[in-house]
Amino acid sequence: MDNGSASPVTRLLAEALTGRASRREVLKRASALGLSAPLVGIMLSAQAHVAGAQDAEPGSLIEAPEGLPDLSGAKINVILGQDGPVVPWEEAACKKFSDATGCQVTRTSGPESATERLAQYQQLLAAQASDVDAMTIDVIWPGILAPHAVDLSEAITWQGAEYFDRIVNNNTVNGKLVGIPWYTDAGILYYRTDLLQKHGFEAPPQTWTELEEMASAIQDAERADNPDFYGFVWQGAAYEGLTCDALEWQVSNGGGVIIEEDLTVSVNNPQAIASFERARGWVGTISPEGVTTYKEEDARGVWQAGNAAFMRNWPYAYSLGQASDSVIRDKFDVTLVPKGDGENAVHADTLGGWQMMVSAYSKNTDAAVAFAQYMTSREVQKSFAIEESRLPTIVALYDDADVLEANPFFGSLKDVFLGGAVARPSTVTSDLYNEVSTAYFTAVNEILTGQASDAAARVAQLADQLQGIVSEL
Ligand code: GLC
Repeated sequence: MDNGSASPVTRLLAEALTGRASRREVLKRASALGLSAPLVGIMLSAQAHVAGAQDAEPGSLIEAPEGLPDLSGAKINVILGQDGPVVPWEEAACKKFSDATGCQVTRTSGPESATERLAQYQQLLAAQASDVDAMTIDVIWPGILAPHAVDLSEAITWQGAEYFDRIVNNNTVNGKLVGIPWYTDAGILYYRTDLLQKHGFEAPPQTWTELEEMASAIQDAERADNPDFYGFVWQGAAYEGLTCDALEWQVSNGGGVIIEEDLTVSVNNPQAIASFERARGWVGTISPEGVTTYKEEDARGVWQAGNAAFMRNWPYAYSLGQASDSVIRDKFDVTLVPKGDGENAVHADTLGGWQMMVSAYSKNTDAAVAFAQYMTSREVQKSFAIEESRLPTIVALYDDADVLEANPFFGSLKDVFLGGAVARPSTVTSDLYNEVSTAYFTAVNEILTGQASDAAARVAQLADQLQGIVSEL
């Protein structure tokens, strides 16, 4: 339907009826247009009906791109996301690929913890197992997995799409493209707009000190009715996710990036140590005691139940929070992770993201490469962005009206997503990155739990360990 010349009211009605405008968008525009309550009610129920239909059928927005090969009779096994809410969308994506190509796809989930998932992949690939054809790999792994990957540098050009240079470079090891960028990620701060307003806060926190003040005031007040309420939830378990959170704390406090570009081990500095001590102070006060065992979904569980004022997480939690049956729907927003107070304090959001890799041991390379191309295509990324709030890796999708409407924050945080996020030191430490990260998250977790009571001493010990790892490079 071409609504270019229609009145704003007709246009809004049409967009509500087709589900193109979100509930929030309908409310915002209807109030700007001064529409009557009954008319707004009709629009909202039309919108809810369509949005509900989309909820019921994940993957319904996926369009198979043109130009996929005929792969009749082929069969591939792929490892995609973890068990959880993304599975139905991924199953639908695999089915559309099968329908379009004739290739049968068997999807399995990988572990939620990136650390465990890497161990699983390494075992599988070391055995040169041919029963997995393609898998999704973390942005920090190209240097580790390169020897086991098919070079996808030709495959990525099939649609002529412009992928983020930074990620393509990250994924290229000695000229080999180890994975085609599927979606990118950046740590963000989720906050409850309704609770901030209720407790007299006009804007989300800019600094950690402000976050602490707001989280503790809101928690104290909300506890009167809800004993399960917490100020702030995040990822504190000893795994890769804690490396991401702790990197944000230290960078935002002017404390460097653990190991600098020139391989200087910089973590042993007062700002980094102070940032870990600050986080230790959250455990059992504004955050649950158990936060030191939390991964992404543990934090989201508390948040999604309406039991937290703030959450640090990745963009995937946005669409889940906005689902039609969510108790926090339209009651939250996202912003940059807070910064420290001192000199050199900056907002820091860790860069994450996943790529499609084809195993060098696959016996169905053509089908596996076509699958990787399909999953990272414009069409599939667009649906992933709209339905599952995953950040595209194709630059043009950040100007796509449908993508922006489903995720208004893609526009407001565009600079972060388009290159401003902070990378973990995985390129400089390459195949030894996992050792670096493991030493780091182990030390930080010990500081958080109090197992290491002297943070400065524990960080000095960490710096020695990291020095030992770097000297092997
Ligand atoms: C997200 C990020 C990934 C990161 C992981 C840590 O999945 O995309 O890069 O390593 O979280 O838990």
